Order: sequence, then structure tokens, then C-alpha cells
Amino acid sequence: MGVADLADYPWDAVAPYAERARRHPAGIVDLSIGSPVDPTPAVVAEALAAATDAHAYPQTMGTPALREAIVDWYARRRGVPGLTPAHVLPTVGSKELVALLPLLLGIGPGDAVVHPRPENTRLVWINSPGNPDGRVLSTDELADAVTRARALGAVLASDECYAELGWDAPWDTAGVPSVLDPAVVGDDLSGVLSVYSLSKQSNLAGYRAAFLAGDPEVVARLLTGRKHLGLMPPAPVQRAMTVALGDDAHVAEQRERYARRRAVLKPAVEAAGFRVDRSEGGLYLWATEGRDAWDSVGRLADLGILVGPGHFYGTHFPQHVRFSLTATDERIAAAAERLAP
Ligand SMILES: Cc1ncc(COP(=O)(O)O)c(C=O)c1O
Repeated sequence: MGVADLADYPWDAVAPYAERARRHPAGIVDLSIGSPVDPTPAVVAEALAAATDAHAYPQTMGTPALREAIVDWYARRRGVPGLTPAHVLPTVGSKELVALLPLLLGIGPGDAVVHPRPENTRLVWINSPGNPDGRVLSTDELADAVTRARALGAVLASDECYAELGWDAPWDTAGVPSVLDPAVVGDDLSGVLSVYSLSKQSNLAGYRAAFLAGDPEVVARLLTGRKHLGLMPPAPVQRAMTVALGDDAHVAEQRERYARRRAVLKPAVEAAGFRVDRSEGGLYLWATEGRDAWDSVGRLADLGILVGPGHFYGTHFPQHVRFSLTATDERIAAAAERLAP
């Protein structure tokens, strides 16, 4: 299947509900997509602005300063020591990488991704904390995934972009583990990639700033493919990423904002008759009131609140909806008020 054959973009299906929610006299509370609403931290925006003389082609592998910043960040924030610049690669946001990884790994017809038959599995994705369900995988669960992927001869890619947002114990204090944590992989990174995005933790989804780290042989292979495709983050973005990765203060501040919003929204969602499942980490409340998700989307739209239906995430969750924490304090408070029984 080519890109031209892809189905309609699923979020287009919520447009009529957005229309309904907009009719609320006090305006829509849009908790559907996870698009950050808080400003890009000044320290990051200033780094971008100071790097706008970008006459030369940027490096696909990233500037030496950026690669060092990624290496240092994994050691400091993700408990992953011992990486070198050969283990890391910046990406133009994570989404293009997620879409293109099969192409970059040379996966083609007859090869399986994700829901494998054991004979031909080439790539396995995991995501912790999960979108949409907020599930966090322990080091033991990650280690099982690594073992299984290796037994299948597959690359294991772990999408970890909500790792700074662990809410329930033990993740709130111990942190959300990376697949590259020595407690998961020891000192053997073979076949394993950690994929990370700065979109959420640094409020710069518009910059398209992300990266990956892991098995240097896989990284080298991806680098070659990405050079041919011209997939290089713009130079000012590389500079802004370098600064963002070195500054933990703005990430802690953003985490506090989401913690505050979650503390307001979660009890309100529960009081409105939903059961919140998992959601122990990440940016979403994954909730059900035991009926079809589209019915819940409709009921919430009549309260002026827009959420996403579980139908967008496969066939397993027809009765769940996803509330995003990416709305201002004022809008989250408005949602809580409207949800009150
Ligand atoms: C699990 C997960 N990975 C990746 C992304 C995309 O990140 P980026 O903005 O870097 O493309 C998202 C965005 O919501 C996400 O939920």
C-alpha cells in the first residue's frame, strides 16, 4: 500500500462533534488531540532565534553539540549511561520516523510489523507511557519485550515521548524506565531503539524536534537512509533542541502544569460516571462509561467538551474515550465544572 492509498485521516470523523461542542455558550473545551497549549520556553525560543543564519545544509546526523546533548540527556534523565554520538540520531519530530522506520530498515512485502507471525517479524513497536491508555511498562516488561523481539530477529522500537510524565507510584518518584536502561538491556543494545520527542515536554511541537538512540549499527543504517531522503532537522531547530535538552527546569515546570490539570480533570471525569483505566503516566485520561465511545463523544460534545473515541486506536477499545490534558488551566476548570453531576 502506498501513501496515496491511505484511508481518511481518522480525526476528520470528530469534526461534527467539534461543531456540536462549539455551540456551548461558554465555548468548546478541546481535549481531543494532544497539542501543547503552553508557550515554548524562552530559553528554547531564544536559542532558535539566535541560530537563524542557516545558510549551509544542516547535518542529517545532527551537530556535534546536539548529539552530545542527546547523549548527556539520556545519562542524566533516562538512566542510560555509556551512549556515544554513534548511538543517537535527531529526527524531524517523531512522527516521520514512526511512519518511515519500516522503509528505513528495508522492510518490504512479506515482512510483518507489530502483529507478527513469528517467521517474518522485522519490527516491533512498544510505547510507554502509552498513548492512548497511559500504561507504563516496568523494566521487567521491557526486558521481556527485548527478549521476544530478539528471538524473532526483529528490531524493537520503544516510543517514550511521555517519559517525564509518570503520575502514579512508583513512576512518580522512580521515573518511567527507558528500554535502554541497564536494568532492561544490561550493556547489550543490539536491535533496540529508544524513540523520543521534545514536542510535549518542551512545548515545541511546531519545531518538529525529536531523536532516537540505541544500537549503533541500526543507527548507522537509518542515518544512511535519512541522508538519501534529506531528512535532517533544520539547523536552528538543532540548536534549539541542544539548549532544550540541557535545561531541566522548563520540563519540571511543564510537568507541574500537567499534574495540576490532571488533579482537576481526573476526579471530575470519574464523578461524571466514567471509570479511568491505566493512565498512570502520559498526557491522557483513558476512560469508559461502559457504552460505545461515539455515544460518549456525543454526550461530552453536548457539554461543549471534545474528546477522541477509542475506535481510533484499533478494535480493542470500542467503549473508551481519550481526554487530553493539553488545555489551559481555565479550560480544564471549565470542563470540570461542566462534568459535575
Ligand atoms: C506516542 C507518541 N509518539 C510520537 C508522537 C509524535 O511526536 P512528534 O510531535 O515528535 O511527531 C506522539 C504525538 O502525540 C505520540 O503520542
